[in-house]
Amino acid sequence: MSDDIISYSSDKKGIVTSECIVDDLSSDIVSLRPTSFKEYIGQKDTVETLKIAIQAAKIRNEPLEHILLHGPPGLGKTTVSHIIANEMGKDLTVTSGPTLEKGGDLIGILTNLGEGDILFIDEIHRIPKVVEEFLYPAMEDFAVDFVFDKGIHARSHRYRLKQFVLIGATTRVGLLSSPLRDRFGIFRTLDFYSVEQLVVIVKRSAAILNTVISDNGALELAKRSRGTPRITNRLLKRVRDYSLVRSHGKVTRESVQAALELEGIDVLGLTVLDRNYLKTIIDFYNGGPVGIEAIAATLQEETDTLVDVVEPFLLKIGLVLRTSSGRKASEKAYRHFKLKP
Ligand SMILES: Nc1ncnc2c1ncn2[C@@H]1O[C@H](COP(=O)(O)OP(=O)(O)O)[C@@H](O)[C@H]1O
Ligand SMILES: [Mg+2]
Repeated sequence: MSDDIISYSSDKKGIVTSECIVDDLSSDIVSLRPTSFKEYIGQKDTVETLKIAIQAAKIRNEPLEHILLHGPPGLGKTTVSHIIANEMGKDLTVTSGPTLEKGGDLIGILTNLGEGDILFIDEIHRIPKVVEEFLYPAMEDFAVDFVFDKGIHARSHRYRLKQFVLIGATTRVGLLSSPLRDRFGIFRTLDFYSVEQLVVIVKRSAAILNTVISDNGALELAKRSRGTPRITNRLLKRVRDYSLVRSHGKVTRESVQAALELEGIDVLGLTVLDRNYLKTIIDFYNGGPVGIEAIAATLQEETDTLVDVVEPFLLKIGLVLRTSSGRKASEKAYRHFKLKP
């Protein structure tokens, strides 16, 4: 078994990754993205908060407060931002933390925003410090300060911006500096979806894709989606292909099981990487507690991938526990592998 850990390579991660992969950009996947709150399943409290904020802003005829959305990849942060822009009837400009390298990159974007327009910054925790400095006055006073010349000749000029709305999305709110975090008026964390909610999403997506799916098929797919709509949609596409070729097009429980077995996804929705992570704790570190760096080194995997993509769901379903001395495999994890704790 240690062999399959060592031989594990990142290209085997398959379709359950945090990154936007080619699949997500295909037109049928894009067509699955809800465009209004009516179509947006779940996240009841967040949706309610946002609806109220939107309505209040409209009544007062003012832009929204800045919004920070937090949560693991694929839970609907980008989708919500598009919906907010639609509901406000404003333009949305999309960028991401790592692509903003210099202050100038951000200033260029900010100066082009109109009154009430929305700027979406994905992975906002990865914004460089120098760029972040420009963001503070922009968010607070709707102004940017240009500095001309250096040393004793330095002069600064304040440029007024339109009152825009910043929506930041992050998988790691702990990495945000507190001055940045404090400048958001609304802060919401998106949670994993329940199986029942994912069933609704599977059925909606299947209908859009003109795919017939049985109730049991939808349930099985929902159970194996790691609580994540993005994964639901990706898996549905695979299952749909499989069913077309192997079972007359209709997606059934059996075709879901067979197709997902091919993808290396087990009954709980765990991927090869999830299982290798757990097996590393169990086999190499006697079930833990063990530090995340040690697990990452053994797996030859990035710590960030484990923290952002693997752990949130395993913590959520109680397969791994976080203690002050490190990660521990739970009894449930042992049982999942049919091992004795
Ligand atoms: N609440 C939801 N209801 C239905 N589908 C959703 C919902 N949230 C996300 N999705 C689907 O999952 C995909 C991934 O969501 P996205 O907003 O890109 O996630 P994030 O930005 O949090 O990584 C979307 O394209 C959409 O099709
Ligand atoms: Mg996103």
